[in-house]
Amino acid sequence: MSQPRQAPRSSRFVVVGAGAIGMLYAARLAAAGLETELWARSRAQAAQLDARGIELIDREGSREIAIPARAATDAPGAPADVVLLTVKQPDIDDALISTVMRAGRPGALLLCLQNGIGHMPGLRAAMPGWRAAAVVTTDGALRLGGRAVRHTGTGRLWIEDTDGLECPIRIREGDMTQKMLVRQLKNAGIDAVLSKKMKDRIYQKLLLNAVINPLTALYGVKNGRLPDDPARALLMRRLHEEAFLVLHTDGMSGGEEAWARLHEVCRATADNESSMLQDIRRGRRTEVDWINGGIVALARQYGLAAPLHEAMVTLVRTLEGAADGPST
Ligand code: PAF
Repeated sequence: MSQPRQAPRSSRFVVVGAGAIGMLYAARLAAAGLETELWARSRAQAAQLDARGIELIDREGSREIAIPARAATDAPGAPADVVLLTVKQPDIDDALISTVMRAGRPGALLLCLQNGIGHMPGLRAAMPGWRAAAVVTTDGALRLGGRAVRHTGTGRLWIEDTDGLECPIRIREGDMTQKMLVRQLKNAGIDAVLSKKMKDRIYQKLLLNAVINPLTALYGVKNGRLPDDPARALLMRRLHEEAFLVLHTDGMSGGEEAWARLHEVCRATADNESSMLQDIRRGRRTEVDWINGGIVALARQYGLAAPLHEAMVTLVRTLEGAADGPST
């Protein structure tokens, strides 16, 4: 007689990337008692986190959360069932993919939290046996120096529903469905939901990023200052219209309310520096190729023109070069 399948106790998580979002989710998972490890790029940051933990600042105040951390180049510990990939798009390369594959067991679930489009097919092809799900987060987080992170805006974690029942995640104690995973995340205070309409979610976020990110980076202003000035407001409108047409042609739902939502996000995140502005200020490569470059590539598929988004790619790339110092 077949035994009833036992529900798994919990999965083991590895969070790859110790930026603001990686630290926020690692802290939430660890604080809920879930087995979680954080992998950082720098050995110094990993050592500091491992020794002193994360200081999480949120509506409830400030808490110290112990977390095992290691440098991504160190030898891995026990393999994870679920890997949260929170690094930025330019960091996804062959070395990063082999790091991720060392982090998890075969059959593990990879949750990909990047802005922009174009990376999922490459990741899936490079990681046979894994299940890679696109994820969109509307949580806001800000890293305040080495080991402190502030939860700046409560949002939701949309996880692509890759049909957990037919293709379970293999964990130590048996199989786990995505629904079970969502329950674990919710218990950890993360408002996770499964979505079968992920393309739409990704495009709605892309539409925001394709306007806010390059303009805040080029003008050097916080999100709330974008609509203040007539020239910036006009560029916002034109970029929005151009991107909306392309994304709508490729199946994005919605209409005029998207323009109001863009303003709402500028208001709600008024004091934030966009991720692209932060990258420019820190001399790092930005995600412009996957955000505005993603719109341009999609436009080409439909024979549409996206000259303003093309200009954003050129201008932001120029700014990245300028931040690197004069070329020789
Ligand atoms: O990339 C970012 O900074 C954020 O996604 C957003 C929505 C633009 C708010 O800062």
